[in-house]
Amino acid sequence: MTTSRKPLMAGNWKMHHTHLEAIQVVQKLSYRLDDRDYKAVEVAVCPAFTALRSVQTTLDSDRIPIALGAQNCHWESHGAYTGEVSPAMLAKLNVRYVIVGHSERRELFGETDDAVARKVRAVLGAQMSPILCVGETLEERDLGSTDEKVAGQTRAALAGLKADDVARCVIAYEPIWAIGTGKTATPGDANATIGVVRNTIRELAGSVADETRILYGGSVKPGNTAELMAMPEIDGGLVGGASLDPDDFARVIRYGR
Ligand code: PGA
Repeated sequence: MTTSRKPLMAGNWKMHHTHLEAIQVVQKLSYRLDDRDYKAVEVAVCPAFTALRSVQTTLDSDRIPIALGAQNCHWESHGAYTGEVSPAMLAKLNVRYVIVGHSERRELFGETDDAVARKVRAVLGAQMSPILCVGETLEERDLGSTDEKVAGQTRAALAGLKADDVARCVIAYEPIWAIGTGKTATPGDANATIGVVRNTIRELAGSVADETRILYGGSVKPGNTAELMAMPEIDGGLVGGASLDPDDFARVIRYGR
């Protein structure tokens, strides 16, 4: 990656860790990281909603320079939306990142490109940064439509945004077939597809594309981080399974420096 884009390693804890477990994990993670890690890599954790407040107070009181992220939100700021959480509520907890359009939300909870685009705007409006997820299924990959799929998802989410707003977005390219399966895209393939996403951002928003961080996600683990992060287009990782354990996540962060 180029020096102007500081790598981001974001742990997506999905539906794991109670608030008590989350406090322990973030404390243990902080014991394993030092100033050189934080200087080289921005580190974020994205706990479940029920753990956000506890993790926030732990990070604040122990002065741990790890950013807080959430895994989802609604696009409205308040209202009669039983079960939903608004961007404003997250921003009050010092949440910096919100994962938007993760493939599990798209596939299991029917999240459409339209909903994803609204959420991106709402997150930006609440002064946070979306981590917008894009990626193809195995079928789409086999049909040779990977580039078309990721470019289409990127356009659907970002078209019409001002360049300044696009500059605040992070994108995560996650091939769906690589999530939680132990399979990863080859570093070369991931690099090429991320290049396609970057070109799409350039079409939409011009030169901010060169500053936009685009992460790779899908079975990132200590053993494959270094080769992925050596690729010029890959600016960090969205890490699921390997971020649940503080030893593994600390190693991923260190190999990503
Ligand atoms: P994984 O998940 O690292 O467990 O494959 C990544 C993700 O879904 O963000």
